[in-house]
Amino acid sequence: MSVKHLSHVEKRGKLYEGKAKVLYTTDEADLVIQHFKDDATAFNGEKKGEIANKGRMNNLISARIFYFLNESGIKTHYVATLNDNEQLVKKLAVIPIEVVVRNVVAGSLAKRLGKEEGMELDDPVIELYFKDDSLGDPMINRFHVNSFKIADPEHIRVMEVEAQRINNMLWSFFDERGILLVDFKLEFGLHKGELLLGDEISPDSCRLWDKETKEKLDKDRFRRDLGNIEESYQEVLDRVLK
Ligand SMILES: Nc1ncnc2c1ncn2[C@@H]1O[C@H](COP(=O)(O)OP(=O)(O)OP(=O)(O)O)[C@@H](O)[C@H]1O
Ligand SMILES: [Mg+2]
Repeated sequence: MSVKHLSHVEKRGKLYEGKAKVLYTTDEADLVIQHFKDDATAFNGEKKGEIANKGRMNNLISARIFYFLNESGIKTHYVATLNDNEQLVKKLAVIPIEVVVRNVVAGSLAKRLGKEEGMELDDPVIELYFKDDSLGDPMINRFHVNSFKIADPEHIRVMEVEAQRINNMLWSFFDERGILLVDFKLEFGLHKGELLLGDEISPDSCRLWDKETKEKLDKDRFRRDLGNIEESYQEVLDRVLK
């Protein structure tokens, strides 16, 4: 589709409103608009707040990263950035599984295994979580996926392989920008039978630490009331646009 054509894609009705984003249909049946909100939530929606300019910052950070991944040969839903808060993406039938990749111990992994935050892992750890808010997105593995027919096992296999490739690419991308990629969450979905990376990659969905000072530049600042939330997201935006 040409750029000229893209600028004429028309926004239609609201398709879905989540905690951080709103999806709108467009006059193109297979394209949707992802609108990033300033709303912030944590702990499965228990903690609520607003981060000034978060929608804009996450939209631009995620767009830059998805553009980089597209260029690097990863198949993603990202099509184009439309304005400060919105991007055009391919409509997905989202697979209800979140793939988490961890390079450094933090958050729930530290808690679960009684390990100190900040310990670098020899090999990345990949975890699967079942996307179900009423259950609090429980951690599952491939056996649960198969037994409860949550998704096609072949899709999960490919998602895990892609997650590792994406991790290698993003590790270097952030490293070059003085950022330690501690961990991140991915969502995938099907578009015309093809498995694509969807959703967002932003300080809401990653743990990003300054490489030198180990200062947190992500949503943990909101979760843990560390202050300077907007400044940290802006710092990530400035660095990814470098
Ligand atoms: N390209 C896409 N097509 C269709 N849906 C998408 C696409 N990319 C992401 N989504 C879905 O759109 C929603 C984005 O909204 P948001 O991130 O605010 O949701 P959420 O509050 O995290 O809730 P949940 O992920 O549990 O639905 C998510 O449900 C996500 O899975
Ligand atoms: Mg979400």
